[in-house]
Amino acid sequence: MSELAIIRDGALLAENGRVTHVGTEKELRNRIGPDWEVVDAGGRAVLPGFVDAHTHLVFAGSRVDEFERRSRGETYQQIAAGGGGILSTVASTRAASEAELLEQGRRHLDWMMRCGTTAAEAKSGYGLSLESELRILRTIRALHAAGPVRLAATFLGAHGTPPEFAGRTEDYAAHLVEAMLPAVVAEKLAVYADVFCEPRYFTVSQSRKIMLAARRLGLGLRLHADQLSSSGGAQLAAELGAVTADHLELVDAGGIAALAGAGVQPVLLPGSVYALGLAHYPPARAMIDAGLAVVLATDFNPGSSPTPSIPMVMSLAATHLKMSPAEAITATTVNAAQSLGWLGELGTFEPGKRADFVIHDCADHRELAYYFGLESAAEVFIGGRRCFRRT
Ligand code: NIG
Ligand code: FE
Repeated sequence: MSELAIIRDGALLAENGRVTHVGTEKELRNRIGPDWEVVDAGGRAVLPGFVDAHTHLVFAGSRVDEFERRSRGETYQQIAAGGGGILSTVASTRAASEAELLEQGRRHLDWMMRCGTTAAEAKSGYGLSLESELRILRTIRALHAAGPVRLAATFLGAHGTPPEFAGRTEDYAAHLVEAMLPAVVAEKLAVYADVFCEPRYFTVSQSRKIMLAARRLGLGLRLHADQLSSSGGAQLAAELGAVTADHLELVDAGGIAALAGAGVQPVLLPGSVYALGLAHYPPARAMIDAGLAVVLATDFNPGSSPTPSIPMVMSLAATHLKMSPAEAITATTVNAAQSLGWLGELGTFEPGKRADFVIHDCADHRELAYYFGLESAAEVFIGGRRCFRRT
């Protein structure tokens, strides 16, 4: 993960939205046709667009009131136990019109792109009823279709127990299996399914039932695992052959070994540790030492991680996860693309892949993790088209 193929005085050629050649400027100069558009990066670093492999992109409202309460000392769990947290965003999302959801989703996606993200995973999970979950997934589909940022949709109907099923999580899990998952699959609205596997949300045994049903219907599996407690989430992800296990702040050595044995990619979300004001970050080094292809993502959501910025996550990875800047770049490009089945299309500069590239306002790739709070992306290109230029 720490070996980047850096090309000094590099250049890339793209035609019809795809990369055709990668090399030094000297090697490629005489291949440039007379009518080609030339973009001079001016000695700055050019990277593949970031792939944000874990986001809760579509929701209505914010949780700035709860944020203020937490700034005064209340905890995330206390607020959730009082009916706030995920359920407060569920209430505002259910109340929003389709047009409002689309508008807010577009706004979030624009923030992400301005940080250098050109492709992302997007979860549902703030509807928790058949109709409202379908609405969120259709919004994700519309955002993907409108472009330019490419999206993969994940059905997270098991993000919490909705008010109609209060105190009856077992019944809601059965409803997910019998009604919601089949409807999502019938409309081809998701490629992945996810469950918030956590005591007081979905137990390991409830999570297993939901994930098995999703797998039978042909969905890939991603799992919120071992975030707030060490509860066997990583082992479950390994047992089910999930594509990813996400969060893992409290995973133990047995969990890491299980992930390595099953080839499950860890998706680490240090933004959520930071924004919850917690101190225990996921053990990234042990995972890298175990040979795991670690991914870093924003977890963009209104509760635990209101950041659209991959560079901010890279900063946290360096300061708290003790990952080098090079490892953080691998984790947000090639490894992230792999976790979404997109490695043939994205994640590196190779002939045939989409020309998704970002000119960052730095001369040395390490500055991406070093400066924090800096909006480094100066120009963003997706499929060869300039989609953003900082003025
Ligand atoms: O990934 N862990 C569960 N879901 C989100 C938080 C959701 C929320 O608070 O709205 C997360 O951290
Ligand atoms: Fe999440």
